[in-house]
Amino acid sequence: VGTIIHSISQTQLAYLNPGILGVNTDGTIAFVHTLPPSTPLDTFLATLTSNNTPTIRHLPAHTLLLPGFIDTHIHAPQYPFSGTGYTLPLLTWLTTYTFPHERRFSSLSYAETIYKRVVAKSLRCGTTTAAWYGTIHTPATILLARTCVEMGQRALVGKVCMDRNGGDGYVENSAEQSCEDTIEFIRGVRQLGSELVQPILTPRFAVSCTKELLASISSLSDSENLRIQTHCAENIQECTLVESLFHLPYVQAYHSCGILGPKTILAHCIHLNDSDRELLSRTQTSISHCPVSNFALSSGICNVRALLDAGISVGLGTDVAGGWSTNLLTAIRNALIASRVLSMRDGTVPLSLEEGVYMATLGGAKTLGLDAQTGNFVNGKYFDAILVDLDACADGRRDHFASRSVDVFEGEGPQECFEKFLFLGDERNVVEVFVAGRRVFCVDE
Ligand code: GUN
Ligand code: FE
Repeated sequence: VGTIIHSISQTQLAYLNPGILGVNTDGTIAFVHTLPPSTPLDTFLATLTSNNTPTIRHLPAHTLLLPGFIDTHIHAPQYPFSGTGYTLPLLTWLTTYTFPHERRFSSLSYAETIYKRVVAKSLRCGTTTAAWYGTIHTPATILLARTCVEMGQRALVGKVCMDRNGGDGYVENSAEQSCEDTIEFIRGVRQLGSELVQPILTPRFAVSCTKELLASISSLSDSENLRIQTHCAENIQECTLVESLFHLPYVQAYHSCGILGPKTILAHCIHLNDSDRELLSRTQTSISHCPVSNFALSSGICNVRALLDAGISVGLGTDVAGGWSTNLLTAIRNALIASRVLSMRDGTVPLSLEEGVYMATLGGAKTLGLDAQTGNFVNGKYFDAILVDLDACADGRRDHFASRSVDVFEGEGPQECFEKFLFLGDERNVVEVFVAGRRVFCVDE
């Protein structure tokens, strides 16, 4: 029982104050209501049909119960160098920092160290669902999936496929080898036996995948009923290179290999024209918008409004380590800034706060095809949630106002608290994290 806020559509947030949310023992949501002002809690509870006596928890003032964040695009092996090297454009950034670093994940012990840290950090930031890229290494990427299962994060995990242009030796031997390893990877993830974590096909991008590999991945997607994640139209030089490799514009190159469709998530999609957007819309392809990365690598500013207007599903991604922050709050802020810059320049309608929150939660769930399970608080969906405490302090001293990331003043209600969390908050304010009803992080433990 407390203040509950969640997206109910792209443009609408529901504020339940006070709200009451029930969780079944199987981790699904039993009910969500606003408590009528004149109804005592006992009277309300008596109206519930369940015979079981619920355990009731009252949330204190200045706390908010929110759906967990959904990171639709993040590279686990790149976490160690996040926050460094943002001087190079994409293609040289990849060959200078990324590929040499990803090569190190041939070592399972190195993978274990990094993957434990990055999954813990992601959960700590309130990300209850993530779409992860691993590396080309099957054992290390199965270990990433196992780490998500053990730590309790809902996840799609992909072994990266790349059969060309890997720079200094970071490449698979052939399209066939890449597919064989991918099949082994899928088997490995399915053997973990967790409903929370599913494999996803992950061809890196058109520069590092041959037509043959992309076409095989498309068939695998059909035969194994798997989603596909890749990058698209992130950087101008990348687009030019893809056109010269495929003799087609980027989006059409993917379409010609059967990559587009309702099970596909393309990251970035900055440099598109109307006919590209029309093709993505017609094929029901989804997009992961990664504004922090787009600023860090000077890739460009994605016109999210045009994507939404075209009817394309858009979620938010951190794109660590192209993006410097593992926290979706940073992605929400940068998405709002990016769209305001476009609005000031071109007069497009900027994204609203509601749309920013939607893309980080329910919109992200739609983008990943997981909106029947998660994204907001609806009966039957899983309880994937974060408890936010606006009064949390960096040094644990709650009387020490100057060390708070957010300062709340008298007379401010749920709306001010929520807005302040979005613009001023950070992971210190996330005091508990739940996935499928299980508490996977608590600041006091
Ligand atoms: N394009 C291909 N690979 C990558 C990657 O690792 N990060 C980003 N941001 N773009 C890519
Ligand atoms: Fe990426």
